[in-house]
Amino acid sequence: LPAAAGTGPAPRTAPCQGRSFGKVILLGEHAAVFGRHALAAPLSLQVVAQVAQNPAAGVDLAIPAWGVEGHLGFADQQNTLHHALGRVLAELGLAGEDLRIEVFSDLPRAMGLGSSAAVAVAVIRALSNYFSLALSDERVNALAYGAEVEVHGAASGMGNTLATYGTPMLFRAAAPRQAIVLPKPLQLVLGYSGVESLTAKMVAQVATLHRQHPALYDKIFDDIDSLTQQGATALARGDDALLGELMNINHGLLGALQVSSWEVEELVGLARRHGALGAKLTGGGGGGTVLALCGEDPQIALDIVAAMQQAGYRAVRTTLEGESAPRKASP
Ligand code: MEV
Repeated sequence: LPAAAGTGPAPRTAPCQGRSFGKVILLGEHAAVFGRHALAAPLSLQVVAQVAQNPAAGVDLAIPAWGVEGHLGFADQQNTLHHALGRVLAELGLAGEDLRIEVFSDLPRAMGLGSSAAVAVAVIRALSNYFSLALSDERVNALAYGAEVEVHGAASGMGNTLATYGTPMLFRAAAPRQAIVLPKPLQLVLGYSGVESLTAKMVAQVATLHRQHPALYDKIFDDIDSLTQQGATALARGDDALLGELMNINHGLLGALQVSSWEVEELVGLARRHGALGAKLTGGGGGGTVLALCGEDPQIALDIVAAMQQAGYRAVRTTLEGESAPRKASP
């Protein structure tokens, strides 16, 4: 049971931090919510949360990069982020504490890169450090999953699992995660559509379609499941050409799930025209981010970034480092 206000664990006097990472889904989003596999990897883009004593009463939350600053209203059912963090505090018996929570995020919000899960994991780790709770990764992951369900309505658990464990993996809800070691770094480009997209809305939309035509959509999920498992083998073997082709097919099936948008299609087209081995939307879709796999020639990634920028989009190069990626995000 949650402790009564003021009777929780003793806080430290100095502020404490917690860290986590965003994620990129190589294959399998949406199908993952229906129990199929997904292939995902941590991004080097970090989220750092800091917890300190609040001079004022209650809990204040600030995420400067996202323009978030305000008092956390536990009863505010409309603000899902507030509600999710309120739930975490209540579950840890900390609902009566006066806290200032600041979150510094390299990740853009609502771009399909796991920002909500990364915030939850970083804040939970900062709370664990501040109150000397020594939460295990399993407990951090479970608490962050609860927060993800609050934010997205339904969630596979992939976002919180990636943010917690920070390793490339073949993920399936309720199954043991299978870590994948990359034999070589992967060059990627992230093209931001500039359209913020709520995963909650896209997940609900796909659920409605599935309810209307279960056999039709289950078949698509099964096809995504099969290509995702092939993709995990391709990733582990360093077979970029096959991985890219599977990404292209996956993008077609995401189109069939009706989660693409014209900005996403333009970015995918630009990436392929400038030499990507594969390009697809990543995350919830409906806007968000396009992921391009670029092969080993660094010029390809540069060309794709330039083409996306010329078309008016923000685009960045990033590398998936495999084993040398930060395995664990806790400080
Ligand atoms: C969102 O990043 C990925 C989805 O598959 C949702 C989930 O797995 O929880 C759309």
